[in-house]
Amino acid sequence: MKSKLLLIGSLAGIGAIGAMTLMAGSINEKEAERVALNQTPVVAEVDKNKSEEWERYYPRQYSSWKKTKESSDIEDLIEKKPQLAILWAGYGFAKDYNSPRGHYYAVQDNVNTLRTGAPIDDKSGPMPTACWTCKSPDVPRLMERDGENEYFTGKWSRYGSEVVNSVGCADCHDSETAELAISRPYVDRALLAAGLPTFKDSTHQEKRSLVCAQCHSEYYFKKTRYVGKDGIEKTANVVTFPWAEGLTAENMEKYYDDINFKDWTHKISKAPMIKAQHPGYEIASTGIHAQKGVACADCHMPYTQEGAVKYSDHQIQNPLNTMDRSCMPCHRESEEKLKGIVKQKFDRKEFLMEIAMDNLAKAHLETGKAMELGATDDELEAIRTGIRHAQWRWDYSIASHGSFFHAPEETLKLLASANEIAQQSRLKLVRVLAKYDAINFSAPDFSTKENAQKLAGVPLQKLIDAKMEFKATLEKAWYKEAVQKGNLNMESREGVDEESSYFKK
Ligand code: HEC
Ligand code: HEC
Ligand code: HEC
Ligand code: HEC
Repeated sequence: MKSKLLLIGSLAGIGAIGAMTLMAGSINEKEAERVALNQTPVVAEVDKNKSEEWERYYPRQYSSWKKTKESSDIEDLIEKKPQLAILWAGYGFAKDYNSPRGHYYAVQDNVNTLRTGAPIDDKSGPMPTACWTCKSPDVPRLMERDGENEYFTGKWSRYGSEVVNSVGCADCHDSETAELAISRPYVDRALLAAGLPTFKDSTHQEKRSLVCAQCHSEYYFKKTRYVGKDGIEKTANVVTFPWAEGLTAENMEKYYDDINFKDWTHKISKAPMIKAQHPGYEIASTGIHAQKGVACADCHMPYTQEGAVKYSDHQIQNPLNTMDRSCMPCHRESEEKLKGIVKQKFDRKEFLMEIAMDNLAKAHLETGKAMELGATDDELEAIRTGIRHAQWRWDYSIASHGSFFHAPEETLKLLASANEIAQQSRLKLVRVLAKYDAINFSAPDFSTKENAQKLAGVPLQKLIDAKMEFKATLEKAWYKEAVQKGNLNMESREGVDEESSYFKK
């Protein structure tokens, strides 16, 4: 209780200094607010996963949080960049991959993506429970209820009626004090492994980024043996950040190589691949803003003045929509000029990214051709290792979407490195193809989503049909059950399921 009051009090104080003037009316307003907050009970443990339960105490944060719903556009990135289907052949991402939208949609987009398949019960489907991990405050609730290892065991569908509230208050805040908090134990483990201070020992400014790092980071599923409460030995897929060697792409590549880790074997080239997830926190850390101490929240959750009250805008979105509050407190250039600079950075990234994707896609297809003609694993080993490293660096540099702005030099460096390694692999491939009389081989056309997915062996229509069946049956049952169990208020799903890459209502 006390620390919550202190927190609100100090924020009101900062607001007052910022405004430099204090009118009598606003003092009274503040006083009234203090009194109201004084009577505020903590958000009940059973309800903390439901963000609407926080509304009555924090109406401004709640209503701005809810506006993440406004960022609803879906962009089918495989349609836009068909090479992606080749690069991810044999892996879920070749089926369906869209640009990110507001936090409001995190759970629904996870349910809708063709990657999570069409389970028919709590034991079927392609994905493990770990796929829910960065979508919902229900996840820490389940980790507490079932134990962390148990949470990370079994199929994704197992928690369909449990993980139903999208990224919300309890993901980033302690429900008793409202202070910033991390709700996933693997973050502290990763910080410790990297030799960094844990969340508790970090500065306040660093915490304003670390709450985002819970989800906007690189991770893999670490197979972990444990004995369950029922006495049976099981294997958990525990979300783990590969930070023990350091937080750069090269450090993590070494980490994965040293433990011989692969996410999948590429369907066309048989290369042992690593999928970069979304190392947004790590790559942003190398950029000028982070190095000058600017936190994620400074740009994505700018302070907003409402009457005398100052609060953090919880409508996390593209900060170019809020430049007056996100950028202008620090920059003197005009908004137009800054926007132009950002656009230039985007175009430079696109240029190198296109070349990298083209080289990588061709390297996979040329390797596939060499195999067809009889090339041996020995002949292809160095080539496959090259493809693994080149694709990791390409993926790492762009997977978090904002990196071209957060850390332009690092992004371009990684893309240059991806291109260099992919080119070296293709030079080696020329020799192998020559040996098998195919020096004139040129990769088949992958310039449309249809062609690329065909080459990647993705049965798109079949996947969509199964998914629609799942949506009409099991998914509906999940929400019904969730309401019965008290996990979900149906109103919080309003307008959440209007669109995906394969349907529009
Ligand atoms: C993705 C993380 C995240 C989520 C989700 C989130 N917050 Fe916050 N919240 C923050 C950050 C970062 C701050 C800034 C804290 C600071 O600097 O002390 C903040 C600040 C606050 C504050 C302090 C006053 C202020 O506005 O700066 C309150 C109260 C608060 N949030 C309530 C909520 C409520 C209620 C929800 C759910 C409707 C919510 N938050 C969801 C990250 C989050
Ligand atoms: C509990 C996990 C989680 C946390 C914590 C989290 N995010 Fe996210 N974030 C996501 C997911 C998942 C998506 C993609 C949602 C979708 O596409 O449906 C996303 C999307 C975004 C987007 C894209 C929004 C848009 O409108 O396109 C931005 C920007 C973003 N997050 C920034 C942040 C920042 C800044 C923080 C910390 C203050 C943060 N996130 C904390 C999981 C999280
Ligand atoms: C200096 C301001 C600034 C800081 C600090 C910052 N961002 Fe961003 N971020 C941006 C801008 C601007 C964009 C949008 C670029 C574009 O696509 O036009 C962006 C884009 C993003 C996106 C992609 C959104 C999308 O829809 O494509 C995510 C996710 C994101 N940021 C998360 C983070 C996280 C996590 C942090 C902290 C580790 C962070 N940002 C720090 C300014 C910032
Ligand atoms: C808290 C202060 C702060 C905020 C907020 C901030 N910046 Fe910056 N920005 C800096 C600092 C510091 C630098 C480093 C250059 C310097 O020291 O002058 C910088 C550098 C830049 C650069 C040049 C660096 C490069 O990578 O080429 C651009 C472009 C930029 N900022 C755009 C933005 C945009 C767009 C936003 C809002 C989305 C924003 N900044 C928000 C402080 C800030």
